[in-house]
Amino acid sequence: MKRTIIITGGAGFIGSHVVRLFVNKYPEYRIINVDKLTYAGNLANLKDVENKPNYTFVKADICDFDTIYALMRNENVDGVIHLAAESHVDRSIKDPFTFARTNVMGTLSMLQAAKLYWESLPEKWDGKRFYHISTDEVYGALEMTRPEGIEPPFSTKASSGKHHLAYGELFFTEDLKYQPHSPYSASKASSDHFVRAFHDTYGMPTIVTNCSNNYGPYQFPEKLIPLFINNIRHRKPLPVYGKGENVRDWLYVEDHARAIDTTFHNGKVAETYNIGGFNEWRNIDIIKVLINTVDRLLGRREGEDMGLVTYVTDRAGHDLRYAIDSSKLQRELGWEPSLQFEEGIEKTVRWYLDNQEWMDNITSGEYEKYYDDMYKGR
Ligand code: NAD
Ligand code: TYD
Repeated sequence: MKRTIIITGGAGFIGSHVVRLFVNKYPEYRIINVDKLTYAGNLANLKDVENKPNYTFVKADICDFDTIYALMRNENVDGVIHLAAESHVDRSIKDPFTFARTNVMGTLSMLQAAKLYWESLPEKWDGKRFYHISTDEVYGALEMTRPEGIEPPFSTKASSGKHHLAYGELFFTEDLKYQPHSPYSASKASSDHFVRAFHDTYGMPTIVTNCSNNYGPYQFPEKLIPLFINNIRHRKPLPVYGKGENVRDWLYVEDHARAIDTTFHNGKVAETYNIGGFNEWRNIDIIKVLINTVDRLLGRREGEDMGLVTYVTDRAGHDLRYAIDSSKLQRELGWEPSLQFEEGIEKTVRWYLDNQEWMDNITSGEYEKYYDDMYKGR
């Protein structure tokens, strides 16, 4: 079947993996990557697919309704996979307006453009799909009822489907009420509500997925894993917020992209699916794994760089623990994570060390100022 799909935010971290997967796996589809190229958007993430005949890049702001609406009509778009967003919690604390603009108004602009175009067609919603990519952070934070946790390294096979609930009995399920704490998660929660409202009010065929923390190649080095790999390499301090005891569930980015493919094609309209790695880690434990791995791969003595760990002032409103139950997606659509964390981290560290030029291009110029501002006074 032929389809024309807009993927928004395709020049970002997760979006670039989704674009790559769709362009390579579905040569019969036309994939249009719509991205504003903010600081987080980088066309170098897509070098290997940029010349494929089924791929087009359009530089546009999702808030620019007229441009998006014209694109939908001119290109006969029948599917939207919406990833474009401001995505970093620390930035949202400094500048919440940008998050409300892109994440809320931008999503609304995408929804309204799709609605007006699809409603104008004789077949209306038939064969259409608006798929919104969201985060587990909308559910708020979980308690640590087992603060001592289970000693890492965790070798639970992620794909066994068993959540090892390392730090508490509770985890996020799809029916949980939204309780966002940061301006980032509040803006994502709001956008999720708009997507569901477009289904409930107009009958738009929407789907929402809420995923846990992703890691892997092409992630902007403001997020924990790429930032710390780069700092360890250059022997710069590693700013650990608070006591480093916050817990996140981590999923390899290509596993998320596969989940998006599965859900886009087989997910039930109006449903929400959680996506996660069954893989909870305290920040400090991940940081130790990163130090050991970078040291080993650079031929240093393992653990030689532990002294770079620098405890700094905690993030305001820092969510203590995220843990996600993605068994609905496993049960109903047959998706499961393919990589164990230890394997994924090794691949990831190797990728960043092998792609120093990619990192250098990003971390030159403006980035230095951002980095100084972000860590000043911590
Ligand atoms: P990212 O910050 O790496 O990329 C965002 C992309 O969106 C960039 O290419 C940027 O240029 C583009 N963009 C931003 N504002 C835009 C605008 N106004 N118009 C058009 N394009 C714009 O983000 P990411 O980490 O790849 O996250 C992608 C999506 O997945 C987001 O919606 C995020 O909320 C969600 N998500 C991320 C994670 C994670 O761990 N990174 C986890 C769950 C969900
Ligand atoms: P991050 O990668 O920003 O993702 P999120 O806030 O969306 O979970 O942060 C992951 C965890 O690492 C989070 O608990 C905050 C912490 N962190 C640090 O301790 N130091 C840092 O420099 C960064 C960027 C994050």
